[in-house]
Amino acid sequence: MKNAGFYKIKTTCMVRILANESICAKYHGKYGEGMAYALEIQLAIGNAFDADRFVPITRTHVALSAQDADLWFAEKMLSKGAKCIIPPTVNPSINLKYLNDHLFEIPKAGKEIVSATNEAYRKLGAQLTFDCTPYLQQNVPAFGEVIAFSESSATPYVNSVIGARTNREGSNSALCAAITGVVPRYGLLLDENRKAEIVVDVQAKVETDFDYQILGWCYPEKYKGLEIPVFRGIKKRPTPEGFMNFGAQLNTSGCVSMYHIEGITPEAPTLEAAIGGKKIKETIVITDKDLAETRERLCREPKKIDFAMFGCPHITINQVATIARVCEGKKFKVPVWLLVSSLTKELAERMGYNAIIQRAGGHIVSDTCIDVPPCWQPYYHGVGVTDSPKCAYYNEIRDIEFIIRPIEESVQAAIDGEVLK
Ligand code: F3S
Repeated sequence: MKNAGFYKIKTTCMVRILANESICAKYHGKYGEGMAYALEIQLAIGNAFDADRFVPITRTHVALSAQDADLWFAEKMLSKGAKCIIPPTVNPSINLKYLNDHLFEIPKAGKEIVSATNEAYRKLGAQLTFDCTPYLQQNVPAFGEVIAFSESSATPYVNSVIGARTNREGSNSALCAAITGVVPRYGLLLDENRKAEIVVDVQAKVETDFDYQILGWCYPEKYKGLEIPVFRGIKKRPTPEGFMNFGAQLNTSGCVSMYHIEGITPEAPTLEAAIGGKKIKETIVITDKDLAETRERLCREPKKIDFAMFGCPHITINQVATIARVCEGKKFKVPVWLLVSSLTKELAERMGYNAIIQRAGGHIVSDTCIDVPPCWQPYYHGVGVTDSPKCAYYNEIRDIEFIIRPIEESVQAAIDGEVLK
C-alpha cells in the first residue's frame, strides 16, 4: 500500500507503521534473516506504541548484562547472521582477570557466561567499551540527534542534559536498533512528548553532587507518574557528576527517562518552553525536610563495614581524584573498589591517582558492574559503604547492606573500618 513514498509493512496482526523501500527490503529478508528478525521485533514495539514510521539513528548503547537472557538474545541474533550497522557501546560486565587476581576465583559458570557474552557481542560488531556512562566519553551525542540508548542513567542524561532523543530502550531493543539502524518513531522522539506536565518546586538547598542523589531518589517517592517533570528553583548548574547521580536515582527510585531544569537544561530555557503549552497536571514541592527524611530513610545508621564500593554508575576522573585526595598517605581498613571505564582507569594511572589508591590498599577496576553475579560473592551477606543509592538498592537481593554517605565520608569510613556518623 503506497503512501507518499512510504509503504505499510504487512504483519499478521496490525498493519500500521509506514516504511520506505529500503526498510521494506530489510524486513523481507534482502539483508539477511538477522536484520529481518530485529526489524520484526521493532515493528511489534512500534505497533504497541502507535509509532507512525521508522527513522534512522546515529548512535546506540546496549546495556549488556552478561546474564542468561542477555546471552540468549545476543546468540540468537548471531545465529541468524545479524551484524550491527551502528556499532553500540556496551555496559560493564566482569573484569575476569582483575577480579580473579585480586578478589576471588570467579566460579567456572560465571567465567563461561561472561566470556560467551563478550564473544557474542564482539561478533555482532559491538564496541566492547564495558562502561555505563557512555554519554560522558566514547559515545556522546549532540543536541537533537536521534539515538537508541538503554541503561538507566544514560537515558535521562542524553535526553535531558544533552537534548538528544531516545526512548528508554531495553538492551534487546537497543541491540535491534544497532542491527537495523532505525527505530520506530514514538514517545520521546516526538516534540510533544518531551514537554513537562509536572512542575517540581525545589525549595530545598541542593548544592553538592550527593544532594542530587537524594533529590533524584526523593522525587519519584513523591510523584509516581511517568509524565515529564520540570524542576524549578535550582539556581546553579549541576556538575556532570551531579547530573549523572540525579538521572541514575530518578530512574532507580522511579522511571524518569527525561526531565527539565528551568533555565539550565537545553529544552527548558524558560518554564514556558519546558511546558510548551501542555496542561500542568500537578505541582510537587520538595523542601529541606523532604530531603532530610529521604536521606535518613535511605542512608542507614552508622556501623562497622566490610568493604567500600564506588562506581554505580562508573565514577569519573574527578571522583577518582576526590577519593585519592582523601586517602593519600593513609591505609584502608577494609577493601575499597572503584569501578570505572577503561579510559578513566588509564587516566587515573597517568595522573598518579591509581598509585595513591593502591598504596592505601584500594583497587581501581575497569569494565565491571556492581550487579553482575557472581562477581561480588565474597561480600554477600556483608555490609558495605557507598555513595550510590542505586548500588545499595540493586544489592538488596544479595543480602548486602549498604550504608550510603557522600564520597568523602565513605572514603573516610573505609579508612576507619566503620561509618562513624
Ligand atoms: Fe553501571 Fe552496573 Fe550500576 S551498569 S550503573 S555499575 S548497576
